[in-house]
Amino acid sequence: MLNNFFQRIETTQRMLFFIRKYPLESYHPLGESFRKGEVFKMNKKTAIVTGAGQGIGRGIVLELAKNDFNIVGVDVIFQAENKEKGLFEVKERVKELGAEFLPVQADISNLQDHEKIIQKTLEKFGRIDVLVNNAGVAPKQRLDVLETSPESYDRLMTINTRGPFFLTQKIAKQMIQQHQKDPSKTQYIIFISSISAYYSSPSRAEYCLSKAAISQAARIYADRLSAEGINVFELRPGIIMTDMTAAVKEKYDKMIAEGLIPQKRWGYPEISGGMNICRL
Ligand SMILES: NC(=O)c1ccc[n+]([C@@H]2O[C@H](COP(=O)([O-])OP(=O)(O)OC[C@H]3O[C@@H](n4cnc5c(N)ncnc54)[C@H](O)[C@@H]3O)[C@@H](O)[C@H]2O)c1
Repeated sequence: MLNNFFQRIETTQRMLFFIRKYPLESYHPLGESFRKGEVFKMNKKTAIVTGAGQGIGRGIVLELAKNDFNIVGVDVIFQAENKEKGLFEVKERVKELGAEFLPVQADISNLQDHEKIIQKTLEKFGRIDVLVNNAGVAPKQRLDVLETSPESYDRLMTINTRGPFFLTQKIAKQMIQQHQKDPSKTQYIIFISSISAYYSSPSRAEYCLSKAAISQAARIYADRLSAEGINVFELRPGIIMTDMTAAVKEKYDKMIAEGLIPQKRWGYPEISGGMNICRL
């Protein structure tokens, strides 16, 4: 009897929370899954963010967490034993913010891993509302375009362009199915390209080429998917302080001080994409 009483209070509290957050979706029958909280999970938007373990990807994840998304963080590095860095640390931060985070160790340049990312997301959250194609790499060594090696060219094209192109293709097919079942929900695919998509840097030609190509992929997918209930956007960060730019910090400090950009300061991961994505 007392148990029933507490169960009813708990259900009422969950119901209030549910109605407050999802007024239009509050008519689900009260079943076992509702009491376990699974209905909450299913009605939140689910975002997959690649390269989520640090830098801009991590910044995007934390903004999404503050805005009530379920998040799947994909990264090639898991570092389960290292709480200071990587997906494990991000998971802890997301937990503090009260959101759900599923870490998936996967390499976006390996097409076999794409199925794993989708499967794990659907198992845990039931659908995919947002894909953020953020993972990317810079050349291991900046070299004049006359010295660019085929190996570095292939590495950047495979990770920065081929990986997100085919991951998007697979996830778009899943999103099209979801749209056919429920056309009321808008879905989003975001490409993090770069200012280098149009700005020429002769000391890292392969990076600029890979970003120009993914920028065009964003336009192509936007054209193809708009009729399918999927909005496609491209974000082009400028100069953001992350591990990727750590090696050239002094060079950019000087250029920024000399007026390279009107704001005269570095960009930071938290503000460079996450907030824009959360406004969608
Ligand atoms: N930092 C900048 O100034 C800047 C500017 C413009 C664009 N960008 C772009 O923003 C994105 C993020 O950059 P960042 O500065 O945060 O870099 P970062 O190096 O700090 O983080 C990149 C993350 O992606 C992960 N990653 C790398 N290869 C991967 C793969 N094959 N599969 C899965 N994960 C992989 C890394 O492990 C890392 O966690 C990149 O696409 C980059 O090109 C960065």
